[in-house]
Amino acid sequence: MRIMLVGFGVVSQSFADIIHSQSTKLARDYGLRPRIVAAVDSSGAAIDPSGLDIPMALKSKKESRSLSGLGADVYTEGRSAADVIREVECEVVVEATPSELTHGEPGLTHVRTAMKEGRHVICVNKGPLALAMPALMELAGHNDVIFKFSGTVGGGTPVLDLAKKCLEGCTIGSIRGILNGTCNYILTKMTAEGVEMKEVLAEAQKLGYAEADPTADVGGFDSACKLVITSNYVMGTSMSIRDVDIKGITEVTMEDIASANSRGNALKLVGYVGDGAKVAPEEVPLTHPLNVSGTFNAITFDTDPAGEITLVGKGAGGRETASSVLRDLIEIRKDFAR
Ligand code: HSE
Repeated sequence: MRIMLVGFGVVSQSFADIIHSQSTKLARDYGLRPRIVAAVDSSGAAIDPSGLDIPMALKSKKESRSLSGLGADVYTEGRSAADVIREVECEVVVEATPSELTHGEPGLTHVRTAMKEGRHVICVNKGPLALAMPALMELAGHNDVIFKFSGTVGGGTPVLDLAKKCLEGCTIGSIRGILNGTCNYILTKMTAEGVEMKEVLAEAQKLGYAEADPTADVGGFDSACKLVITSNYVMGTSMSIRDVDIKGITEVTMEDIASANSRGNALKLVGYVGDGAKVAPEEVPLTHPLNVSGTFNAITFDTDPAGEITLVGKGAGGRETASSVLRDLIEIRKDFAR
């Protein structure tokens, strides 16, 4: 299966590394023989129809922050991703450029272009979905392509699939969740170690948890994106991020945290959709399953007749999120086989 990676940041690099190191297992267990025929980043594009040299691409990115180390036969500086999507033959485009939440660009154009060219799309970028999910679902149907986006919610935790596939027959009345790993990491460290928000945020950026623009994390916008995507996918709503009432954690103080603790609660950034949609800091009882620490995400589906079901897992990180891309790819392979 020929794959194009649009955006070659932490998630794409981890994904490339996983499919390279697990090639035998993927072929044996799933009949999947992925070949990365192109990778595009903000500086240029590497193209090789016979498959890029993955170890070399990773080495080049690490050493020079670009794919230029693959050589002049393969790499061209300054090529636009949309052109590469139009020109290079492949079955699947993975859109993993940084999320932009005002216009969704350039991800939105990449996703639309790929669908119009008849490519299946795996989108890790939350911007296009938070702003235009219903239109993109329609475009995918119209062009008869598969559109997957597991990695947009919960990192490697199968939030969307759990709700969609394992809760069939149940009605989901509301969703409440800790949806941003960076904020949870910050609040956990502020609580446990008394470290200032700015300091923990810098650490989260270094560890690759935070968004390219971390105000999306601490401002609550990233959580809102995930709320919108989950609600639209599992509750059938047609929301965009503009429908969510959003308050982040920027004004949270050590005193707020201590005061919540004194009541037997933890202060968390919580996303809720049900009777309205909002993201805001909220007190969660220390004994509640939503009270997870570090980069963990937790999401509670209030269902009828199964009651409350909470899923917990790592919500941020390159390798974790790359596992979602791999899951989506395997699903696409299975659909092919069918
Ligand atoms: N910045 C995001 C987070 C990454 O911290 O949750 C995963 O979507």
